[in-house]
Amino acid sequence: MTESRTEAPATAGQIAASGDTGEPAFYYPPQELVDQSNIMAYARERGFADAEALRQWTVENSTEFWADMARRLVDWYEPFNTVLDDSEAPFYKWFTDGKINIVHNALDRQVKTWRKNKLALIWESEQGEAKTFTYWQLYKRVNKFANVLKSMGVQKGDRVTIYLPRIPEIMIAMLACAKIGAMHSVVYGGFSVEALQTRIVDAQSKVVITADGGYMNGKIVELKKITDDAIKHTPVVEIVIVVQRTGQEIEMQPGRDLWYHDLMALPIASPKCETEQVDAEQPLFMLYTSGTTGTPKGLVHTHGGYQVGVATTLHFTFDIKEEDVWWCAADPGWITGHSYIVYGPLILGATQVMYEGAPTFPYPNRWWTIVERYGVTILYTAPTAIRGLMRFGEAWANRHDLSTLRLLGSVGEPINPEAWRWYHRVIGQGNCPIMDTWWQTETGGFMITPNPTTPLKPGSASRPFLGIDADVVNELGEPAGDDEDGLLIIKQPWPSMLRTIYNNPERYLEQYWDKAPQGLYTAGDSARQDDDGYFWVIGRIDDVIKVSGYRLGTAEVESALVSHPAVAEAAAIGLPHEVKGNAIHTFVILKNGIEPSQDLEDELRAHVGTMMGPIAKPEAVNFVPSLPKTRSGKIMRRVLKSRALGLPEGDLSTLES
Ligand code: WTA
Repeated sequence: MTESRTEAPATAGQIAASGDTGEPAFYYPPQELVDQSNIMAYARERGFADAEALRQWTVENSTEFWADMARRLVDWYEPFNTVLDDSEAPFYKWFTDGKINIVHNALDRQVKTWRKNKLALIWESEQGEAKTFTYWQLYKRVNKFANVLKSMGVQKGDRVTIYLPRIPEIMIAMLACAKIGAMHSVVYGGFSVEALQTRIVDAQSKVVITADGGYMNGKIVELKKITDDAIKHTPVVEIVIVVQRTGQEIEMQPGRDLWYHDLMALPIASPKCETEQVDAEQPLFMLYTSGTTGTPKGLVHTHGGYQVGVATTLHFTFDIKEEDVWWCAADPGWITGHSYIVYGPLILGATQVMYEGAPTFPYPNRWWTIVERYGVTILYTAPTAIRGLMRFGEAWANRHDLSTLRLLGSVGEPINPEAWRWYHRVIGQGNCPIMDTWWQTETGGFMITPNPTTPLKPGSASRPFLGIDADVVNELGEPAGDDEDGLLIIKQPWPSMLRTIYNNPERYLEQYWDKAPQGLYTAGDSARQDDDGYFWVIGRIDDVIKVSGYRLGTAEVESALVSHPAVAEAAAIGLPHEVKGNAIHTFVILKNGIEPSQDLEDELRAHVGTMMGPIAKPEAVNFVPSLPKTRSGKIMRRVLKSRALGLPEGDLSTLES
C-alpha cells in the first residue's frame, strides 16, 4: 500500500473525477448499525420506512418535530405552550413560556437516577495522568463553584469570561455560570492578549476565570500573564479566579486575584446549590467569532432552544447510547466544545473523554493510545488533525486496537476525499461511517450532516439534519442548479440558532438576514448541491479564514499587524495549505523610511502571535509598495488572493486606478 498524500480541500469536480481511481462513489454503513440506530428507532415509531422519509417529514413539520424533541430529550420546570414565536422575526424565540435550565438536564436530573455513579468524564493530561468524574462528582463541584460565584455577587444575566486550558475546570466553570443564570463567555486558550482584551471589554465581565498556565506540546502557555496584560487597561474586571494547573510562579494581585482551590475550600463553597429556574429564552452564553470587521461578534445562545438542538443532533447524528465512550477532540473554548463536550454529552448522560494536549505528544500515536485505553466508541475531530496525523503514516495507528470505534466525525472545514478515505480505512478500519457535520457557531448544532443510515460520499456533508431546510441560491436569491456554486442558506428557523449579536442587533440583521431575499439565513459559505441532493460545502465567501479549522477574521490579523510601529497598512488573506486547510498570508506596507528585512518579517509574525495568539501567526509577511483597493478605499483581498494563486483577477471595475 502506498503512503497517502495530502491535497487541498476538494471541490465536487475532483470528487466526480475520483470515480476514475476505482474508489466507490458511495460508502454504505453496516446494516447492523442502521438497524440499531437511534434515528431508525424514531423513524419506525413515526411510521416511516427509513430515515430519509422521516427527514423529509421533519422538514415540512419542523415545529412539531422540535416540540417533540423538546419534550422527549429534556425536562422542563414548567412546560412550554408556544413552540416558535416568529412575531419579531428574524429575532426568533423558541419555547418562550417554558421554564428550564440547561444544568438541570446536564447534571441535576442525572444524579437522581442510576447515572449518579456513571462516569461523566475521563480526563487525560498531556503528561498522561488521568482523572475521572462521575456525574455525582461533577455535580458537586459545579454546585460548589456556583456558590463561590454567587458569593462574589455574580447574578443572573452577568457575564463571566473564562480563559482556561483543556482541563475539567473549564467544564465546571461553564456549568456553574449556567446554573446561576449568568452568561459565560469562553475565550479559547490559544488566543492572546488583544483577542482576550477585546472580548472582555465587549462583554463587560467583572469576573475572569483563568489558570496559572496550560500545557500544550510539552510547553507552558502563560495564561495568567496574558490575562494580566489583557486587563491592565480594563478597569471593568474586579476579580480574577486562578486555577492552579502548572504550579509555576505567577504574580497574584492582592484584592483582585484569588486561587480557585482556596475558594473551593471555603465554607461558602457548599456542595448544595439550587439551580436557577430561567425562561427558555434566558441567554446561556456568548461566544465570540470572527466576522468581516475588526470587532468580533458576541453570538448569543439561550438556555431552552440551544439544549434541545444539541441534544437532538448528538442523539441522532452520533447515535449516542448508554454504553458509548464519546470523544470530541475539540477545545471547549469553541462552539464544538460548548455543544458537544460540555452540554450535549451530559444532557444525554454519556461517558466522555477529554484530552488536554497535542495529538502528537510525545509521539504521533497519542490519540490512538487514548482510543485503546478507554475503549472510545465514537471519535469526532477536524480534517486538519486527520491530515496532520496522516503525514506520519498509518503504522502509528496500526499498532493500536481501534476496534471499539463504531462511528467517526469531522467538523470545521471541508474534508478532502483523500483524508476522508484514510480516516475511514485506517482509523475506522472500513467499518465506521464518517459524520461530516457542517455547522457554525451561529447555528449551535449540526445543520447538514449524514446520520448512521446515510450512504456517504467522501467530501460531502450529505443532506440537512432533521427539521433543517437548507438550499443553495445564486446572487439573485434564486435556487442554483445542480452542481452550480452559490450561497448556502437556511430557509426556516431552528431552536439552537443564535438569537442576536451581543449589544448589536443591527449587525445581526445585516450579517445574517439582509443578504439573501425574504429573511433567509445566510451562512457566509458557498456550496453546491449535486443531483442526489448532497451538499458540497466549498468555503467561506467573506473575510473569514479557516486555519486548522479555527475561525479567524482577516481584520483582526490586520489590526494586530498595524499595531506594530513599523507598519502603515496591512492585508491578510487565506491560501490553501496541505495540513491546515488554509494558511494566513499577509501583505504589509511599511512606514516611510523603514526597510524590509527577514528580521522584520520574523518580528511581525511573532507580533501577531503575541497579540492574537499562535494560531493567528501568519505563514508569510510580504512587503509591498501598495495594496489593491476599491475607489472607496477598501482593500480588495479577492484580488490579492487571485494574484497569489496565479488566477484571473476577475472584475476590477471598482479597483482604484
Ligand atoms: C466551516 C465550527 C465544510 C464553514 C462548527 C462554516 C465546514 C464555518 C464544516 C463555521 C464542514 C464547519 N464542511 N465546512 N463539515 N464545518 N465548516 O463557527 O465554513 O468555527 O461556516 O463553527 O466552518 O466555523 P465555526
